[in-house]
Amino acid sequence: MNSPLDSNAELQHTARRNLWMHFTRMSAYSDNDVPVIVRGSGPYVFDNHGRRYLDGLSGLFVSQVGHGRTEIADAARRQASELAYFPLWSYAHPQAIELAERLADLAPGDLNRVFFTTSGSEAVESAWKLAKQYYKLCGQPERYKVLSRDIAYHGTSMGALAITGLADIKYPFEPLPPGGVRVPNTNFYRAPDFVADDLTGFGRWAADEIERAILREGPESVAAVFLEPVQNSGGCFPPPPGYFARVREICDTYGVLLVSDEVICAFGRLGHYFGSARYGYQPDIITFAKGATSGYSPLGGMLVRDAIMEPFTRGAATFLHGVTFAGHPVSAAVALANLDIFEKEDLLANVRGCEAGFRATLEKLYDLPIVGDIRGDGYFYGIEMVKDRDTRETFSEEESERLLRGFLSTALFDAGLVCRADDRGDPVIQLAPPLICGQEHFDEIERILREVLTEAWRRI
Ligand SMILES: Cc1ncc(COP(=O)(O)O)c(C=O)c1O
Repeated sequence: MNSPLDSNAELQHTARRNLWMHFTRMSAYSDNDVPVIVRGSGPYVFDNHGRRYLDGLSGLFVSQVGHGRTEIADAARRQASELAYFPLWSYAHPQAIELAERLADLAPGDLNRVFFTTSGSEAVESAWKLAKQYYKLCGQPERYKVLSRDIAYHGTSMGALAITGLADIKYPFEPLPPGGVRVPNTNFYRAPDFVADDLTGFGRWAADEIERAILREGPESVAAVFLEPVQNSGGCFPPPPGYFARVREICDTYGVLLVSDEVICAFGRLGHYFGSARYGYQPDIITFAKGATSGYSPLGGMLVRDAIMEPFTRGAATFLHGVTFAGHPVSAAVALANLDIFEKEDLLANVRGCEAGFRATLEKLYDLPIVGDIRGDGYFYGIEMVKDRDTRETFSEEESERLLRGFLSTALFDAGLVCRADDRGDPVIQLAPPLICGQEHFDEIERILREVLTEAWRRI
């Protein structure tokens, strides 16, 4: 039987009338069609006209195992029939228990305790709340501040937004909870002159800036530093050599918790279950979401070291925080089925084996004058576009608006590639394909980018 929304005209009419899309200028769709994606298969998705797109962003850094995996859908169906819902408030269910054990086994060091949420923002919010309550329990109630990096995105709830380093998306919601402090990010392409030719020196400087910020704020007032293994926002900034070792040292010196926000970088994005493992550092808390279920159902959470959990194991101590759907049985069952696929298909080995090919294929684009910098690791890359490659001059706001919103976003999609054209820092294109991708998909990405970026340069 046909649904009442079968025709494109009906879908468009109803979407315009009733749907509010996230971080979206709704006015952009008063004269243009809303793209409607109806199904997916492997690394491809299809719209309601039957057109195929390579999902070069894994939806939104989510679909690690690709689309259309019936074994995950079956696990969800089985779990919904057996026990669709029960809370983790004073109760447990086998899927949450099994998933917590499995994640603790995969996580680096003694990150043995799992607190589930339903999203990345909730995970970040929970980590800040945990850091604050932990220090209150430890007799250091004045520790509440959090450090994070310029332009970094850590989510949209009020706490997560206070940690986020993007002024434009914070301003409408101010005043935000106090205590968010910014430190430099690790964008080597835009490094200050005195370390512009020295990657290790740049990393040392950026890490030392964390120490300077702690000393400036007063070490007794700082609870945690939130860092992504590779910073997404701004276009994939990997850590310079030695950066995280120095950050760990600083955190230990001043008793500040190191929170590794791995909402994007966990579950294979960098060829490891956790991004911190790739760069060899031990976080006190890892926040995760997105790839934990490959998006077949929502789930997030944080992994916490034994020592941080310890004060909560005594007497009446309780972490006074929770959400109804955290660790939802269907999502937990889906996450387990997702991890089964990781193991069965050795997806981490696929990423590690193919990542050099991904980089080399993208680097072919360096022959285009608009391509300034190509950076990233694993299956996670940003391409920074510039007006002048020699001077690294970036685009004016008006040019950026014309280039990204006026042309690139639509042109890339029309050419069959889902990726992200972003100007929250300097203008970048971001890529994070499903972990099942290989050389043929990298070639397809390169071909489409070459075509569209060549045209973009012509139009500037
Ligand atoms: C590093 C990081 N932290 C937190 C979040 C927020 O996650 P969510 O959108 O699931 O709330 C995101 C989302 O992209 C993220 O990239």
